[in-house]
Amino acid sequence: MGSPETQESNDSFYVSHKFMDVAKYMLEQNGLLGSFAKYIQYKKAIKEFLTEKGANVADRKSVFEQFNVIDKKVKCGHYPYQFLLMAKYILDLKVPGPIVECGCYKGGSTAKLSILAKMTNRKLYVCDSFEGLPSPQFEAEAKMHGIVHGYNTTFHKGEFAGTMEEVKSNIRNYGCIDVCEFVPGYFENSLPGIKIDPAFVFIDVDLVTSARDCFKHLWPQLLKGGLWFTHEAAYHEYIYGIMDKTWWHENLGECPPLIIGAGTGLSPLAHAIAYMEKL
Ligand SMILES: C[S@@+](CC[C@H](N)C(=O)[O-])C[C@H]1O[C@@H](n2cnc3c(N)ncnc32)[C@H](O)[C@@H]1O
Repeated sequence: MGSPETQESNDSFYVSHKFMDVAKYMLEQNGLLGSFAKYIQYKKAIKEFLTEKGANVADRKSVFEQFNVIDKKVKCGHYPYQFLLMAKYILDLKVPGPIVECGCYKGGSTAKLSILAKMTNRKLYVCDSFEGLPSPQFEAEAKMHGIVHGYNTTFHKGEFAGTMEEVKSNIRNYGCIDVCEFVPGYFENSLPGIKIDPAFVFIDVDLVTSARDCFKHLWPQLLKGGLWFTHEAAYHEYIYGIMDKTWWHENLGECPPLIIGAGTGLSPLAHAIAYMEKL
């Protein structure tokens, strides 16, 4: 099982941050001692985030506090520490240029990225269908749902839908809407021809086909030294799908980049997160 999702309705899963859901999931996954160890690890990671040498302590504290509010108020498809970890990379990133998010669901991750964009004087491009996932293109892709979500289920069209209005409202309430530019539509239609030259890209799009659309149109534009983060990193099938050598050669004319954290994630507290750097 990949995460403590709650089945919210027949067609939508999200990471529940309710104490009882998290506690139940932790106990199921790690047992009592293991859960305690994870809790200590989490507390330590937060302390490190807040007090890291050379970091702007006030900025880190502000990020942490604002993210906490978002975690409580918005249904998110990620764990709190995954975004604290990415926050470190964004706050430390020397390359100027916009941030791109592909896959925003209800806008919780978007609100967080907008706060980081504002703090680092960047624009945030928000790319999503605002209608949820498209239809999976092949059976193995659809079945990855079972691996990621731990249920005997498949990804399906319309899952993880957040309307433009919902997303905007969550950003207005908990993030910084003034730095956001919205790019609505399925990636295969919305990304061709777009000119962004991002310094940082985060994709959380579940399907290999969707991720490939992002790579095809945005990877060539990622600035040198820029970072590309992906969700779903712990799932081997996803990593094999997005790093397929033949696909990269045929579509981008290059070898796939090294992906740091593939198969395990960057931390036991952020098992879904890995990244690539544009060399
Ligand atoms: C798991 S949700 C994102 C979760 C969100 N990042 C969070 O942490 O709360 C996946 C999102 O990807 C979007 N998506 C997936 N494939 C897409 C595609 N081909 N075109 C546009 N949007 C897509 C869905 O609409 C959905 O909003």
